[in-house]
Amino acid sequence: MSELVISGLAASIDGKEILKDVSLTVRGGEIHALMGPNGAGKSTLGYALIGHPNYRVRGSIMLDGQELIDKTPEERARAGMFLGFQTPVAVQGVKLSTFLRTAYNQLHPDEKISITEFYNRTKEHLGKVGLDESFLSRSVNDGFSGGERKRFEILQMVMLKPKFVILDEIDSGLDVDALKMVAEEIREYFNENVGFLIITHYQRILKNIEPGFVHVLMDGRVVRNGNKELSLRIEEEGYDWIRVA
Ligand SMILES: Nc1ncnc2c1ncn2[C@@H]1O[C@H](COP(=O)(O)OP(=O)(O)OP(=O)(O)O)[C@@H](O)[C@H]1O
Ligand SMILES: [Mg+2]
Repeated sequence: MSELVISGLAASIDGKEILKDVSLTVRGGEIHALMGPNGAGKSTLGYALIGHPNYRVRGSIMLDGQELIDKTPEERARAGMFLGFQTPVAVQGVKLSTFLRTAYNQLHPDEKISITEFYNRTKEHLGKVGLDESFLSRSVNDGFSGGERKRFEILQMVMLKPKFVILDEIDSGLDVDALKMVAEEIREYFNENVGFLIITHYQRILKNIEPGFVHVLMDGRVVRNGNKELSLRIEEEGYDWIRVA
């Protein structure tokens, strides 16, 4: 069974410490939600986990017994880490189909999947996230609408087959139908070998994908751990009651 153990993780950028001391364990077959006010450091945690070069980090990130803290983003991706970005960026001149195929080959060098099979899988899941085939020949995220970018993050997740998935506000910018499609893809992909960390501000995604664990990040620390009830209370009352507690 897959297991990600984050302990004592600190991260700073441009000399400012954003994450101070984050410890969290996510096992395969578990869905964790991460909530917290704007600027709390949620996206920073995602970046720190995938090894974004702009951050200086301390602490430990163990994935299935392998220490990732000093590994490159590529090595972490090969170990099975995936981040669906809050604001995905455009990659001009790289076709979506080429991007997926190249990334897949890099992440799974030993797997033999024919071009046709990969293409058919891509087409199938494009449909499942509500994108038409014309996207295959477009440059990655170039001119994509906000919602289309989010749908493409989910397409990457299902195609690249990570074992630990962080989704950073995947629900933001999605219309009602897209939210359902994305939730369905997540549910279909989820299994006992995959752990999820879903960063969100809202219940609407958590209603579709029920988290077993809910954490609250504030000022660079996990200040509350709970279950669905915690997320419901936050939606009702915000974060002030946690601040004063
Ligand atoms: N280069 C930088 N210099 C100084 N502070 C920075 C820099 N980059 C990010 N920050 C700060 O780090 C803090 C955490 O940002 P982060 O994006 O992780 O927040 P978040 O919890 O994801 O918020 P949101 O809910 O708005 O997405 C913010 O206060 C942000 O302004
Ligand atoms: Mg964020």
